[in-house]
Amino acid sequence: MPEGPLRVVVLVSGSGSNLQSLIDEVHGRGAAEIALVVSSKGDVPALARAERAGIPTAVVALAGRAREERDAELADVVAAAEPGLVVLAGWMSILTGTFLDAFPDRVINLHPSLLPAFPGLHAIRQALEWGVRYTGVTVHYAEEVVDGGPAILQEPVPVMYGDDEEALTARIRAVEHRLVPEAVRLFSAGRVRRDPADRRKVQILPVEVE
Ligand code: GRF
Repeated sequence: MPEGPLRVVVLVSGSGSNLQSLIDEVHGRGAAEIALVVSSKGDVPALARAERAGIPTAVVALAGRAREERDAELADVVAAAEPGLVVLAGWMSILTGTFLDAFPDRVINLHPSLLPAFPGLHAIRQALEWGVRYTGVTVHYAEEVVDGGPAILQEPVPVMYGDDEEALTARIRAVEHRLVPEAVRLFSAGRVRRDPADRRKVQILPVEVE
């Protein structure tokens, strides 16, 4: 077991309901500590959630500059918080290797579908339009290919006849709010292992019995 709580930096862009699930379920409960919340936009509800919980915040926007330049600043801001894990929880901006290479195997993303189905924007709408019976939630390693890294946790969510985007979003959010804290707890317990021989494979290690 690693010593002390896992230091987590959460990257957000909007409502921050998944950040809230981390604040409520894992922050300051021994396993993990949210050290910093970074937003790609100012004045979003996610920042207010962090402030209410007494968590330091920063805004690092793209704002007309090159992505690499923004990502170099972002890497510095995040590195200063000394994270063991970086969680993209509704971060709505493409990250380049300039950021991702600074935190190898320590950046995870949340996506509202069973990847590789429906990557990119509007995954929930895409699932409804396609007419699938199940969609779901994926927590995966973030890589330069958007929504392309290997899965750590996945859970199917049924699509009911007559669902609109709002109804399906609510069902998916409820699962996200369970899986994101679970992923952080698994990292904190040192139970997530990316196979060095085949980096597409992720092993969830069993709980160690004393
Ligand atoms: C979630 O659906 C997540 O899967 C996607 O963006 C959404 C963020 O929601 N990447 P919130 O800001 O956590 O409420």
